[in-house]
Amino acid sequence: MLREKVLWKVVKMMNVNVVLVGHVDHGKSTLIGRLLYDSESIKDERVEEIQKLAEEYKRRFEFAYFLDSFEDELKEERTIDTVSLMFKSKKNYYTITDVPGHKEFIKNMLTGASHADVAVLVVSAEEGVQEQTRRHMFLLKMLGIKQVFVAVNKMDAVEYKKERFETVKSQISELLNSFGYAAKKMLFIPASAMEGDNIYRRSEGMEWYEGPTLIEALDGVTQEGREKPPRFVVQDVYEVNGEKTIAGRVESGMLRRGDEMVFEPSGAEGEIEEIKVFGGELEEARAGDSIGITINDGGVRRGDVGGLIGNPPKPTKEFLGEAVLLGKELKRGETLELRCGTAKVRCEIKEIKEKIDSETGAVMERNPEEINEHDAAIIVFATEPLVVEKFAEIPELGRFVLVKDGKNTGAGVVLDATSPF
Ligand code: GTP
Ligand code: MG
Repeated sequence: MLREKVLWKVVKMMNVNVVLVGHVDHGKSTLIGRLLYDSESIKDERVEEIQKLAEEYKRRFEFAYFLDSFEDELKEERTIDTVSLMFKSKKNYYTITDVPGHKEFIKNMLTGASHADVAVLVVSAEEGVQEQTRRHMFLLKMLGIKQVFVAVNKMDAVEYKKERFETVKSQISELLNSFGYAAKKMLFIPASAMEGDNIYRRSEGMEWYEGPTLIEALDGVTQEGREKPPRFVVQDVYEVNGEKTIAGRVESGMLRRGDEMVFEPSGAEGEIEEIKVFGGELEEARAGDSIGITINDGGVRRGDVGGLIGNPPKPTKEFLGEAVLLGKELKRGETLELRCGTAKVRCEIKEIKEKIDSETGAVMERNPEEINEHDAAIIVFATEPLVVEKFAEIPELGRFVLVKDGKNTGAGVVLDATSPF
């Protein structure tokens, strides 16, 4: 299986998580198709097959088709609902998460995007900044994604003109300033996903551009989180031949065989006897690794977060967060489901401190009774015991999703986990 092979190799190669955002029709799917195609992650038969299909429908051959057909294929095999695809360059493995359209971004925070090392914002050179470009940028800032590459796409449609690229670039820079978004690494790349300009292949039509291609930029991405205290998110506990294995993902720091661990909120403790990956055993596991560990305690549950006894994760019943609302409304006193990592708990909207405009970042109201679709807000949440971390310290456990009647109604980040707020 592809996934097993990938997981095994991840131990040696860096696995970079990319989230792709941008306004409807600006070319996200086409860009993924291009990355898959140019990195030779798609077999030739597949290209022919899709070309034939496209001819049948008398439609133009489009790279976006790759993505759609791949998605269907992957969906059948997978239990979690993601729209993530994998490809590899000479340097890294990439998991790239597409945002199919409006509102999907927040939904995807649950999966691929919640682990994003880097965001690629796709903006059409023809249309420039649009409503969703602004909202997505606000979210990227809220999520604290520090590496952002802006692909100014469809350059072929504006005759590869430098002036047009500069105009879009300054529109976006202005927006960044208004949000106070200080990304550590920010790059603007003039590109054409359709023609393949500056994605893998350096564009011949844009000799005025001297920066990196998109793949060169991605290959230069750095990952943080290895030197932080270890946090291990438990996905499942299963038993084979009487031996219990705890499966999960190291979200930050490093774990070694022999480490004394504690899991919260269950309170289970134990020493790591073995660290397993597909195809073998490890001495140590790092942030980003999906592993199985065996310890001499049976009380660990899905939703637990493991850490070292000397610097343990702390369960909380109240925290301060900033969230963006997708659903129609959210009222003070309302109860709903909150998900963070693999934990699912009941939570109450204890207090709404500020209501914020998600297109401009401005505070609209203090202590409102409710907020509405697209609003952002600073909220005090009361929850069942749960491990969260300050987003600024361990982002992977500082992001959450709000679920109402089975639907994702909002998402946010943890500002503070120690009251009073
Ligand atoms: P949603 O998933 O609906 O948000 O759209 P998307 O961002 O995934 O856009 P998609 O890739 O489906 O492309 C939208 C349209 O733009 C399609 O007709 C593409 O063929 C076209 N398109 C994408 N990239 C380019 C490009 O580089 N140049 C030109 N001229 N057209 C492009
Ligand atoms: Mg799309």
